[in-house]
Amino acid sequence: MIMKIGVIGLGVRGSSLCFLINKYFKTQLKIVAICDLIEEKCNTLKKKINNKNIKSYTNAKRLIDNEKLDGLIITSHTDQHLKHAKLAAKNNIKSILDKPISVNLKHAKEIVSLEKDNNFKFLMSFTRRYESSWIKAWDIIFNKKIIGDVYFIKLDCFVPYTRYFQTWHRYDKLSGGGINDKCSHHVDVLRWFANSEIKSLTSFGSRHSYFSPKKNKNIRCKDCSEKCEYRRYEAEGDSRENLKKFKSDNIYFDGLRQIDDQCVWAEGSDILSHFTCNINFENEVIGNINFSCFGPAAKDQEVLEVIGVKGKLKLIRSTGVIEIYHEQGKKFKRIIAKDKYHQTSHFGADIRLLKSYVNYLKNGQSDVSAENGLESLKIIHMMKKSIKSKGKLVEKKN
Ligand SMILES: NC(=O)c1ccc[n+]([C@@H]2O[C@H](COP(=O)([O-])OP(=O)(O)OC[C@H]3O[C@@H](n4cnc5c(N)ncnc54)[C@H](O)[C@@H]3O)[C@@H](O)[C@H]2O)c1
Repeated sequence: MIMKIGVIGLGVRGSSLCFLINKYFKTQLKIVAICDLIEEKCNTLKKKINNKNIKSYTNAKRLIDNEKLDGLIITSHTDQHLKHAKLAAKNNIKSILDKPISVNLKHAKEIVSLEKDNNFKFLMSFTRRYESSWIKAWDIIFNKKIIGDVYFIKLDCFVPYTRYFQTWHRYDKLSGGGINDKCSHHVDVLRWFANSEIKSLTSFGSRHSYFSPKKNKNIRCKDCSEKCEYRRYEAEGDSRENLKKFKSDNIYFDGLRQIDDQCVWAEGSDILSHFTCNINFENEVIGNINFSCFGPAAKDQEVLEVIGVKGKLKLIRSTGVIEIYHEQGKKFKRIIAKDKYHQTSHFGADIRLLKSYVNYLKNGQSDVSAENGLESLKIIHMMKKSIKSKGKLVEKKN
């Protein structure tokens, strides 16, 4: 039986999942209805996947009221997730809820209550949990126990995501900033690899003066003729990820949440550019995350290192390579852990996520529920608190 799917939010993420469904899951999933505040985005998607029969909406409630769905995918802006999660849970429609769960903790707690009150689980798309190299690394450490007991985990992420300064991500109230958007993944990874919960942390972060807003730069890329390495869709980060393919013909909408080519130096943005965080886990593991959204595009732009009492493991995300020193360094192994889908979005994770989605639609079992999203957001909020007080230790409250 083919399951009928609705999608709310047809930007980069929602469209990308639609492309994958259309290419790899045609016999299991059928997109029947889509919704975006911008009708043009729905039309573009329909054209790109060559399906005129998909129903389009600009109001999510209307979509839910009119359609009989087996499943939903929520890929709207992060501050809108609660609204759409409510529609899903109250109508008992099993849903992918994209990460981060939300921007504010009150919303995130409400989403977790929706799960409890409606005897229902969301499936959160923390993509690293679905990437073959990360799954393999976890297996090597915890099933094969090659590096012994883990006591230190370090995650470096220096990505060329200057678009965080150009799109809706530039406003903390809409996205929570890069620290929420990108690092919600990283704190989830640390909890996953530490096999434990966080006790306390301390964090420093800033917006580098190179990116301080400038009064004379309130301009959009489309209206600017300066030579600039951050020009939207041409910047190294955007072009490597081929983001132009998600650009709608009529992409230059007005409005705070819709402009996506604001100058990186335009005023009004209140997000950080980089931070570091040290984490103390309940089980003695120490974690460390380092992040910058204006790193150079590089093969090792995201690297996980896990140190155990008998060795260490290093995972380079973009190449899917795992290097292991074991037996106290007497032995060394290099594994190519990527799978045949590595060239697809999120290094194959989205295909595995959608496979898990198909199972979840059939049996209701979610691999990653909203509770994981809430835990991740609690940690992001602790980080923000510590950064605000210039590195003060923040203890976790339950
Ligand atoms: N799992 C991952 O690795 C991953 C990757 C990318 C994005 N995301 C998440 O997906 C979400 C969307 O990100 P994006 O990069 O696609 O952003 P985007 O701006 O490209 O797309 C979001 C779309 O949602 C629409 N939208 C916003 N509010 C809406 C509403 N109330 N009703 C209907 N449509 C609405 C916008 O018009 C926009 O087209 C974010 O929460 C983001 O963090 C997750």
